[in-house]
Amino acid sequence: MIRVGINGYGTIGRRVADAVMLQDDMVLVGVTKMKPDYRAAIAAQKGIPVYTPNAEAAAAFEKARMAHAGDLSKLLSEVDVVVDATPELGAEYKPVFAKHGRKAIFQGGEEHELTGLSFVSQVNFDAAKGRDAVRVVSCNTTALCRLLGSLRQGFGVSKARAVLARRAADPDEISKGPIDAIVLDPSSLPSHHGPDVQSVMPDLDITTMAIKVPETHMHLHSVIATLGGKPTREQVLEQLQRTPRMMLVEGKAGFKSTAQVIDWAREVGRPRNDVYEAVIWRESVTMVGNEVYMFMGVHQEAIVTPENVDAIRAVCGGYSAGDSMRTTDATLGIRHPA
Ligand SMILES: NC(=O)c1ccc[n+]([C@@H]2O[C@H](COP(=O)([O-])OP(=O)(O)OC[C@H]3O[C@@H](n4cnc5c(N)ncnc54)[C@H](OP(=O)(O)O)[C@@H]3O)[C@@H](O)[C@H]2O)c1
Repeated sequence: MIRVGINGYGTIGRRVADAVMLQDDMVLVGVTKMKPDYRAAIAAQKGIPVYTPNAEAAAAFEKARMAHAGDLSKLLSEVDVVVDATPELGAEYKPVFAKHGRKAIFQGGEEHELTGLSFVSQVNFDAAKGRDAVRVVSCNTTALCRLLGSLRQGFGVSKARAVLARRAADPDEISKGPIDAIVLDPSSLPSHHGPDVQSVMPDLDITTMAIKVPETHMHLHSVIATLGGKPTREQVLEQLQRTPRMMLVEGKAGFKSTAQVIDWAREVGRPRNDVYEAVIWRESVTMVGNEVYMFMGVHQEAIVTPENVDAIRAVCGGYSAGDSMRTTDATLGIRHPA
């Protein structure tokens, strides 16, 4: 059994915690929380030991008369791997994890240089094997790498361009906007997303630009990729269909927007409405010469959950990418092509 601790129990940490608890080869030792709020109370109700990462958090728990399981050192003394899901505090915590000799998984808000390996399961699982630390890339980068990695494998990709309409905030981030604006993200081009994809696929020619829109559910990417050869639309669709963690949806089946994708997740009973897959609108897949065009939806809160579970297995060694991804997908209810 791989003993896992999670530092930070917010949007990402809570999802990774639940996913870890579903794995037969992992045990969740505990999570850390700064605030003794309802989320900490629910974790405790679920039987998850809640630790405090620093003296400030311990004092807050004591003041609120909420029990905690001990400090971060205690958690680290009991785990094999720690998943850091703090708000970009990886540089502060990495030496702490290293001092305890613990392997660590960081998130996409960190710099690539923090670990030297930016991870997406289906692109570079093997490169993470046995490493002390890896960075699971951001939601947008994960989706672009799944898509472009698949197209590259199927046909070759000589050029990729993408325009990202980004959700302005996660649903519970009440202090963030915009409320009624489209924000250039940033106004100088290109955006950082292309270089981030290159942290996983260094030889890919990719340029991106991004805007932020008043939406909390998902991001929507408009992607154009120049493919090798001249595959037909049907060949591209078949390639996407056999790619793990991709989901094809159709407008004529009622998927008119990101809102219906989240509604689908609600209807099928996904926890927290989570959509782990990169979502491609089937009818948007269009070939013009050797260029393919398409729309791709990304549920920012959920898409990196399976990658975190795989990253834990990768750094521990002893698993193939295929075995880990199949196991993760089965536990999360993600269709996995044979
Ligand atoms: N949100 C997304 O859509 C998304 C998608 C992909 C990747 N990411 C990346 O994932 C990482 C985490 O983002 P998030 O959205 O999950 O953040 P979040 O919702 O703000 O959660 C952060 C967690 O870290 C805890 N925390 C705050 N200060 C801390 C400290 N000094 N020491 C230890 N823990 C501390 C918070 O505790 P309290 O709950 O007690 O305040 C909270 O549980 C970032 O690198 C982000 O870029 C986020």
